[in-house]
Amino acid sequence: TRSFKIAAIAGDGIGKEVLPEGLKVLAAAARRFDIDIEFVHFEWASCDYYLKTGDMMPPDWKAQLSGMDAIYFGAVGWPATVPDHISLWGSLLKFRREFDQYINLRPVRLFEGVPCPLANRKPGDIDFYVVRENTEGEYTNLGGIMFAGTEREVVIQESVFSRHGADRVLKYAFELARARARKHLTVATKSNGIAISMPWWDGRADAVGADYPEITVDKQHIDILTARFVLQPQRFDVVVASNLFGDILSDLGPACTGTIGLAPSGNLNPDRTFPSLFEPVHGSAPDIAGKGIANPIAMIWSGAMMLGFLGDAPDAPRGCREAHDAIVAAIEEVLRSGPRTGDLGGKATTVEVGDAIAGLIG
Ligand code: NAD
Ligand code: IPM
Ligand code: MN
Repeated sequence: TRSFKIAAIAGDGIGKEVLPEGLKVLAAAARRFDIDIEFVHFEWASCDYYLKTGDMMPPDWKAQLSGMDAIYFGAVGWPATVPDHISLWGSLLKFRREFDQYINLRPVRLFEGVPCPLANRKPGDIDFYVVRENTEGEYTNLGGIMFAGTEREVVIQESVFSRHGADRVLKYAFELARARARKHLTVATKSNGIAISMPWWDGRADAVGADYPEITVDKQHIDILTARFVLQPQRFDVVVASNLFGDILSDLGPACTGTIGLAPSGNLNPDRTFPSLFEPVHGSAPDIAGKGIANPIAMIWSGAMMLGFLGDAPDAPRGCREAHDAIVAAIEEVLRSGPRTGDLGGKATTVEVGDAIAGLIG
């Protein structure tokens, strides 16, 4: 049997509270399904480390992480002491780009037992994936400020879309849609207002889609698309979007299912040339950090996604897929009838929810 080496990085704020619950659940699943996982803990990629050293990570961070099978990541950011663009460009966004994690896969699902903020929706009505481009697009540091500090100040912030980058995320989304029952793909666009990149993006969707005649494709401008997330969430199956549009959709989607405290993500390098990274969609939540009340389920579900992804590799041990399914089943059970945190209207602590899920796995 093969053993996995996983980097565990807590980061800041509630990252430090939810990561231990995720590790607890993964350890329980590893025991039960006889998977050999070694966790390697790193204190860096945090604002604490930045305040001590002046950098978010040591110079050899890439060498330290390259040999890992995956990265299990809490959340980064503490804007009270470190500006967000410094902490995020110095850690998470570096991982995504340097490790070529070009897919950000973010499931959106309404669970039984979770009150839905949308009227008359039941589990099954909301069950889709946001596939977010994760290495380029609107997220750049290209540009600058001219005549800074004067009345003539001008700011330029470039976007970057490459054919390689667009085609690979579109292809991933089409493949995912093909593997699902409804075989439907929504392409987020804004080809009316964003006059160069978005008509081009639509064209790439047509070109890539030519290989997938069995998939129905629906291009929607991002403005009405957000409205339909709220009004007609049952329309969606797989939604593919640029980096920024995907970011926005992947907070809105989970909010429509009750809380962002459940939403997981996989920052995937499908070619497995570098480790992939698994983390909650949410951030470090400074407003509730230190109180022990954060919902750990996004972190725990992200751990399940990690095992699922590792289990899909050709040489993977067999238990990974079963471990994934067991963790998701335990989450479902706890959401139906177990302890719940404040974001779901409960009074349970982070640790109580983690214990309940780990306990069900055995
Ligand atoms: P956030 O996701 O941290 O918090 C938004 C709101 O959701 C807050 O009210 C918070 O209390 C609540 N919330 C988030 N996660 C929760 C959980 N697990 N349980 C219960 N409630 C939860 O977003 P923000 O306030 O915009 O950002 C705070 C910091 O986190 C910033 O520094 C930001 O840049 C960073 N951030 C990091 C990541 C990441 O590391 N992937 C993601 C988003 C934001
Ligand atoms: C996310 C976060 C990040 C993003 C931030 C923290 C840079 O919001 O993972 O969704 O915008 O990608
Ligand atoms: Mn986000």
